[in-house]
Amino acid sequence: MKVTASAPGKLMLFGEHSVVYGYPCLVTAVNQRLTVTVEANGESVFSLKAPDLGLITYSKTIEDLGKKPPKSVRFVETLYKIFLDKYPQKKTIKVTTKSDFSSLFGFGSSSAVTVAFAKALTTFYGINLSKKELFDLCYQAVIAVQGVGSGFDLAAAIWGGTIYYIPPAKVVRKIKLEKLPLLVGYTGVKADTPTLVRMVAELKNNQPARVETIFQQISQIVKQAAKVLEKPLNLNQLGKLIQKNQTLLKEIQVSSQELNNLIWASQQAGAYGAKLAGAGGGDCMFALADEANCNKIKQNIKKAGGHVMDVELNAPGVKLEEN
Ligand code: PMV
Repeated sequence: MKVTASAPGKLMLFGEHSVVYGYPCLVTAVNQRLTVTVEANGESVFSLKAPDLGLITYSKTIEDLGKKPPKSVRFVETLYKIFLDKYPQKKTIKVTTKSDFSSLFGFGSSSAVTVAFAKALTTFYGINLSKKELFDLCYQAVIAVQGVGSGFDLAAAIWGGTIYYIPPAKVVRKIKLEKLPLLVGYTGVKADTPTLVRMVAELKNNQPARVETIFQQISQIVKQAAKVLEKPLNLNQLGKLIQKNQTLLKEIQVSSQELNNLIWASQQAGAYGAKLAGAGGGDCMFALADEANCNKIKQNIKKAGGHVMDVELNAPGVKLEEN
């Protein structure tokens, strides 16, 4: 028997960082997917083939699972170990992953691989989990690997579409998104999310009242944006919320010169608003554009040193695929 599942990546729209402290955020699933196949391998080891993650073949005895896994397989191996502790099994498996994420910038490939694997694995062993149970299993693995994180990316990979999210999946509300004309620009600088989350934690430790006030303001923006997104699109209103969120992210020092340059370049070309997306420190930004200024914004992002990424939003969540 062979089971294949795929899960999407994500783009954070509003509410990064404050979501780590229990405030809401808005996130959308993107059309880049990670596909994982699980099959019986007839051996006594767990084996993995992940050419797109830089791993041709890898294997581990069940006893050694979770002991110093290489970076590229940490999420899969840790999840498998947690799963086996909870649901002991006799048959061992072979796992194959396939990614259609851009090699330039992966929109949440670790959350997508974790979720796709969890879905394929539980289905393979005949264990039927609800979306929330699947989330809890994946979240346990992510926390074991990186120590921090709101789980917003796992929720996007599981539920798909565009969601209003309060961690850890206490609230997952689908937003009926009509149309959202965003241009996504990549700075060319890879940022490390846990490092940025820890930087913000330090700032919050040193200036608790100030940072808490900023988080509350961001939370208000998220709530307003959720309302605006569900109505016929008002570019001016949404653009202002994007700008406000960006100003607050600058105040907690997570924007970078490269991000600021792309955001400024977009604004100069007539974007309704532009902000960083995710942890900051590099990675991506997006600009709200309409058809009239879309090309000019693209050109300006490129001139400012960015790469315009081809992404579609509101993609479906985790699903089983035909073999
Ligand atoms: O860098 P990304 O796209 O994984 O986004 C991180 C978002 C944070 O709020 C900073 C962290 C989190 O886990 O919510």
